[in-house]
Amino acid sequence: MRSVIDVPDLSLSELDALMDTAEDIIARPDDYADACRRKKLATLFFEPSTRTRLSFEAAMYELGGNVLSVTGAGTSSAAKGESVADTVKTVSCYADLIAMRHPKEGAALVAARNASVPVINAGDGGHCHPTQTLADLLTIRREKGRLGNLTVGLCGDLKFGRTVHSLIGALSRYEGLSFILISPEELKVPSYVKNDHLKKNGIPYQQTTSLEEAIGGLDILYMTRVQRERFFNEEDYLRLRDSYILTPEKLKKARPDLCVMHPLPRVNEISVAVDEDPRACYFKQVLNGKYMRMALILMLLKEAGKL
Ligand code: CP
Repeated sequence: MRSVIDVPDLSLSELDALMDTAEDIIARPDDYADACRRKKLATLFFEPSTRTRLSFEAAMYELGGNVLSVTGAGTSSAAKGESVADTVKTVSCYADLIAMRHPKEGAALVAARNASVPVINAGDGGHCHPTQTLADLLTIRREKGRLGNLTVGLCGDLKFGRTVHSLIGALSRYEGLSFILISPEELKVPSYVKNDHLKKNGIPYQQTTSLEEAIGGLDILYMTRVQRERFFNEEDYLRLRDSYILTPEKLKKARPDLCVMHPLPRVNEISVAVDEDPRACYFKQVLNGKYMRMALILMLLKEAGKL
């Protein structure tokens, strides 16, 4: 049974095909309005979410399907001690597809090994978040017209930011990419991400603590929130949370065609005044995420022989 736990589960040609399907859905939404009639998506969210859960659910409704939803560990039998394996074996009896978010790294893999329907990882702890990356890739392709030959700045909590880990894994497969990794010393990209993607593929990258020094050379600036929920103590979080705040003043040093991205939710790291700047693309990312999730649902249900 084909599941999607991280972006490398999808080949480059499959990523292209998903983006092409998303473009077709944008152009011809009525053609897809009944595509998943009588099919059910279960959204199992054991961690808070606005965009990912609601966009999966909106995606399934816009495909003519239905949704079963668990929101929060306290509202399901996980609160009684049920394992992820038993939960997804049970949900496989009710749904054709599962999208799951869980605070523990590796939970999505456990789910995929035990479910009898496809599982989509909607974020597992500080590990990865592949469908956010699908949203990010479509946004970059739409805004820049390409996914290669770009200088990409990733800024903020690069240690716990799972969207960053998945995005590095995806972009490292395209030609001509280079990365500027902007973070406090304590929140640098984990070694396993650098080894598995950047070093292995010979991708040039620099690490810096200065957003101001880096911003002028970037095609993409991907801001991230400091992930309070992953810190072991509040003092460290409070010390690091405002390390980077993107303001209109800082954007004066940036290229006129910079694309400013953020997976959201935002706390302080992008001033709301930046929202008026035409280079702000983060709410476009939100919408692109729904179309890419529609494309992924269609792909997995077709492969599972359910469409
Ligand atoms: N980007 C993202 O995963 O947002 P949510 O936590 O609101 O789902």
